Amino acid sequence: MDKDIKEILLSAEEITALTMDIADKINKDYEGKNLVLLGLLKGSVCFMAELMKYIKIPCQIDFMSVSSYGNGTESSGRVNILKDMSISPMGKDILIVEDIIDSGNTLSFITQYLKSKRCDSVEIVTLLNKPDRRQTEVEVKYSCKKIDDLFVVGFGLDYAEYYRNLPYIGVLKESVYKKTSE
Ligand code: IMP
Ligand code: MG
Repeated sequence: MDKDIKEILLSAEEITALTMDIADKINKDYEGKNLVLLGLLKGSVCFMAELMKYIKIPCQIDFMSVSSYGNGTESSGRVNILKDMSISPMGKDILIVEDIIDSGNTLSFITQYLKSKRCDSVEIVTLLNKPDRRQTEVEVKYSCKKIDDLFVVGFGLDYAEYYRNLPYIGVLKESVYKKTSE
């Protein structure tokens, strides 16, 4: 697995430090609110698990699963809900926890969807952000790290469902996806 990685972008220690900084801000901003951390499956699992450890205010957690990516490295642009929230969003302050924002299509769809459910607020926290790739504008309240237009894996992020279990974020060698998509 490590042999498919061109470069390590964030080590496990760097991810923890970035997450702790963002959690501090969330702890202050959401004091006295009805915080729900809403992870998007599956990519956000590691970031969600890391982030929630450092949230010191009362909160609930939930997950949604949507599909917008096939097995390639490009967004399909279509978003389907595969699993909805189990907590009622009404009256809650929902903080969507995302692994990476690329085209913005997925989050734009989910934020609109949640706003229609009469929650009190909907904001986004993401581990990684690729602003140069945006097709749809989304307002990102908390972003741990901006990255260039690179395809990255690890710490929950996949290529064809593999590499999610790497404990760091790495840039995938192009030869891996060029080989399988031919
Ligand atoms: P968007 O709708 O294009 O913003 O798609 C965001 C989703 O695409 C993320 O939640 C990831 O699942 C996936 N994605 C985008 N860029 C990458 C990447 O570099 N590596 C792995 N998954 C990615
Ligand atoms: Mg994903």
